[in-house]
Amino acid sequence: MKGFNKKVLVFAGVAVIAGAAVCALAFAQGDVSAGTGFKKLKPAGAYGATVIDRNTKEHKSVKPVIFPHWPHRVTYSCKACHTDLGFAFSANSADIKHSALEAGKYCGKCHNNKTSFGLSECDRCHLHGVKAGVTSKKIEDALAGLPPDDFGNKVNWVSALRDGKIKAVATPDGTGELSPLDLDVEMAVTKFSPHPPDVLFPHKAHTEQLDCTACHTGAVDPSGVFIPQKGANTGMNMMKIISGQYCGTCHGKVSFPLEDCFRCHSMPPPKPPEPPKKEEPKKEDGKTDKDGIKKDEADKDKAGSPAKDAVKQDGAVKDAPKPSAPPEQKK
Ligand code: HEC
Ligand code: HEC
Ligand code: HEC
Ligand code: HEC
Ligand code: HEC
Ligand code: HEC
Repeated sequence: MKGFNKKVLVFAGVAVIAGAAVCALAFAQGDVSAGTGFKKLKPAGAYGATVIDRNTKEHKSVKPVIFPHWPHRVTYSCKACHTDLGFAFSANSADIKHSALEAGKYCGKCHNNKTSFGLSECDRCHLHGVKAGVTSKKIEDALAGLPPDDFGNKVNWVSALRDGKIKAVATPDGTGELSPLDLDVEMAVTKFSPHPPDVLFPHKAHTEQLDCTACHTGAVDPSGVFIPQKGANTGMNMMKIISGQYCGTCHGKVSFPLEDCFRCHSMPPPKPPEPPKKEEPKKEDGKTDKDGIKKDEADKDKAGSPAKDAVKQDGAVKDAPKPSAPPEQKK
């Protein structure tokens, strides 16, 4: 355990340095950090509150819209809106006209005075700059009792769903269920040295909320597309993720944010580089007893060094509890 903690510490150090380097680069590009909100932690209720503000003549006549994800996540899967109602995983993509809402499209599918409040209540949606809070209820009150988390909405949405405390219905009618795919894919982090723990991508947590096309075809923002083959997405790296591509299409905007390093980098920490082996100074005196010792050592090497064995063991501990954050960060 002591050794493990030391390794976590080593990684935490690396993580901080890498994080700082990655952030510095990201911030140098100004708008990148603005887009991802990586720079400052948002209050729980504002996390995932998407501003919809297309810059057209008609839209100048009304206040921009704020779409809060969390009141919707309590009931609907991502698929219900992002596949069925045609919203992309990117703000300002849909061409939403008030007439379309009245025809029952987009928000108008539900904001019709039946499923939820109606279109006459303009400033419950067009509320950017109108009032301070985004929603009528505070997130702390509305979501009290859901399993807590340290980041984002401060709710562990995966546990909340599995505990039956929220729903993730498949369609905007409020019906249907998704059939999750239970397939974990290990993603080796080889492009950086010393490298952070590898990433474990769980299909289950995703396909409880999303359909395959969200990630495996061009149906959404092309940056969210993954080739469905282990190790095939060679262009992926942390910088692109921070700038909103690949995993960053959702993480950092709506799903838990990128500050939660170890929820993705959840494989066992890599071994620190081995200290150089202490070689016995070679004495070719040819004394029989010494030769015996030498032979023993040679056999030991063939059988595999203790360090190598430990690596093998580590590879096998796939089911070890995942540290979502190193103990040091919990303070
Ligand atoms: C009730 C409908 C609804 C649900 C449910 C929903 N979304 Fe959204 N989402 C939207 C709308 C609307 C937008 C804005 C699209 C636009 O402006 O064109 C959006 C935008 C986004 C964006 C882009 C945000 C940005 O800042 O660019 C992401 C990422 C996203 N959603 C992810 C998700 C994920 C992940 C889930 C499931 C956990 C989800 N959404 C559930 C309606 C929904
Ligand atoms: C699939 C159905 C559905 C769609 C689509 C949908 N909503 Fe909602 N929305 C709801 C439900 C249900 C609630 C919870 C309402 C309640 O508590 O009465 C809600 C709540 C809200 C709230 C919080 C209201 C408050 O004061 O607490 C806002 C704001 C909102 N929706 C805006 C939007 C906007 C903007 C869109 C389109 C971009 C949209 N919604 C699309 C179903 C939907
Ligand atoms: C359920 C949420 C919701 C409600 C309620 C709502 N809107 Fe909107 N409205 C939107 C969204 C989303 C857009 C698209 C914004 C964008 O793309 O920038 C929009 C766009 C608009 C636009 C610009 C596009 C166009 O059709 O010209 C106008 C004007 C507008 N709304 C007026 C109103 C008025 C007036 C009311 C009240 C009678 C109202 N809206 C109520 C969500 C809503
Ligand atoms: C949130 C995004 C996302 C969703 C949704 C998703 N996948 Fe994947 N899928 C991935 C990623 C990421 C990988 C790993 C790619 C890599 O290693 O580069 C992957 C890999 C795969 C692989 C290859 C596994 C291997 O070991 O080579 C298959 C097969 C696959 N997905 C099928 C599916 C199916 C079927 C669904 C729908 C039930 C689905 N995926 C939904 C992101 C997703
Ligand atoms: C299309 C949106 C989307 C993309 C792309 C995406 N995720 Fe997620 N991810 C989600 C949603 C939704 C959840 C549920 C939890 C939440 O929203 O906070 C989730 C949860 C997770 C979890 C938590 C599982 C658990 O049991 O707690 C991990 C780990 C994760 N994602 C890793 C990744 C990695 C790694 C990638 C990129 C290879 C990725 N995700 C890409 C939407 C996405
Ligand atoms: C949503 C999941 C997710 C989160 C959260 C996350 N990472 Fe990553 N990270 C990845 C994936 C996926 C890769 C790329 C693996 C590969 O090389 O294909 C990666 C790669 C890296 C790399 C290797 C260099 C590179 O650019 O590829 C470093 C270093 C790194 N991450 C550090 C961090 C740090 C520090 C944090 C927290 C501030 C963090 N990561 C949070 C998913 C994540």
